[in-house]
Amino acid sequence: MINKVKGTYDILPEDSFKWQAIEKVINDVSKLFNFKEIRTPIFEYSELFHRGVGETTDIVKKETYDFIDRGKRSITLRPEGTASIVRSVIENKLYASPNQPLKLYYKGPMFRYERPQKGRYRQFHQFGAEALGSNSPLIDAEIINYAVTFLKMLKIDNILIKINSLGDDESKALYKQKLKEYLKPNVDQLCSDCQRRYIENPLRVLDCKVDKFNPVLIEAPKPLDYLSHVAKTHFDKVIEALNAVGLNYEIDKSLVRGLDYYTHTVFEVEAKLETLGAQSTLVGGGRYNNLVASLGGPNVPAVGFAFGIERLILAMDSLETKEEKPFIHCFMIALGDEVQNDALKIINNLRLKGLIVDYDFFDKNLKGKFKQADRLNARFLLIYGSDEQKEKVVNVKNNETGEQTKVPIIEIYQYIKNKL
Ligand code: HAM
Repeated sequence: MINKVKGTYDILPEDSFKWQAIEKVINDVSKLFNFKEIRTPIFEYSELFHRGVGETTDIVKKETYDFIDRGKRSITLRPEGTASIVRSVIENKLYASPNQPLKLYYKGPMFRYERPQKGRYRQFHQFGAEALGSNSPLIDAEIINYAVTFLKMLKIDNILIKINSLGDDESKALYKQKLKEYLKPNVDQLCSDCQRRYIENPLRVLDCKVDKFNPVLIEAPKPLDYLSHVAKTHFDKVIEALNAVGLNYEIDKSLVRGLDYYTHTVFEVEAKLETLGAQSTLVGGGRYNNLVASLGGPNVPAVGFAFGIERLILAMDSLETKEEKPFIHCFMIALGDEVQNDALKIINNLRLKGLIVDYDFFDKNLKGKFKQADRLNARFLLIYGSDEQKEKVVNVKNNETGEQTKVPIIEIYQYIKNKL
């Protein structure tokens, strides 16, 4: 037997309805906020993620799935969506479209070579959104509100919104210098990775998983204390807009996020639910005003978020939200070989009208057919034998009430529709 690859999993038929339910809410909420779906390839040239996500991030240093294709090109399975969306916006010149800001959302598999555990996989799925073209703090708040509204629609409301600002280029440069000065005498107290990070990109030291509780890092200077006037005004306006829409948040001065492209606002939303285990961050995001230009596009400011869909499923399991149990409208019970083809014709017509109909393909005995109908949670049984064939009717049995009626074949659809 060949097993699945470590860190991957199958979404089995008994669970796929949960995914479909979430995907429906994703589409519905995105429509409310007037975001349009974009779909990009699962693999891209490796350089996109090296330049986009950042050479010194853990994602690029340790976690990407890279391969050389048969044309000797270096290819990477996407570890996240933002860099690909920006690539597509530049390549398709969407930044020049008359509808600004561009409001895009996406969903699909992402790949990171991480240590698998509950809520953390090597192939996982994200629902992400990106708004490109506006530097307004109102759109930062809109993006956060969009993410939170989505959670509300899923009835996940025991959440904590954490928000911070990394500032603009000026603030980031000043902060980097202060952080470097602070870390210099303490470098030997950092883990070996952080000693390298200190030289390459000191900001990356702050989201080290190993040194999380190291007092040197806990007491380190915080970006929020080094904001330029422009960056502080931006952050204050985001906060005002969040207050205006009534969102509760916590300013978390230590939040820096694990990707290099952020400027100004960064945020995460956590849910404290048992089924989530240690991976309680449902969504992360922020503003990234330099990414489009650094990937060869014009100067286009942007802000976005991404949810981990597996974590949403885990969160919903702990809330025991009652998704509707899968059901079918009708199960056809054909009695005898001579009526089979007519029975198939009847069910096909019902399907074309929109009813979910199934059939016994094993030629079970009558008891077996009834059992199968129950297992499939059939609302109606269509019993069809040679007598019914002669009379051009079907015996329709309501599987819940037991009520049974002969219904002319041409009226079955309407009959069932009226009873649903
Ligand atoms: P991220 O924080 O790397 O941000 O990932 C976003 C979310 O994806 C996480 O909060 C988590 O729910 C989920 N996630 C990440 N890694 C895994 C994994 N190995 N297994 C399961 N779930 C995972 C980004 O990806 C940015 N592109 C977000 C963004 C969009 N920023 C601006 N625009």
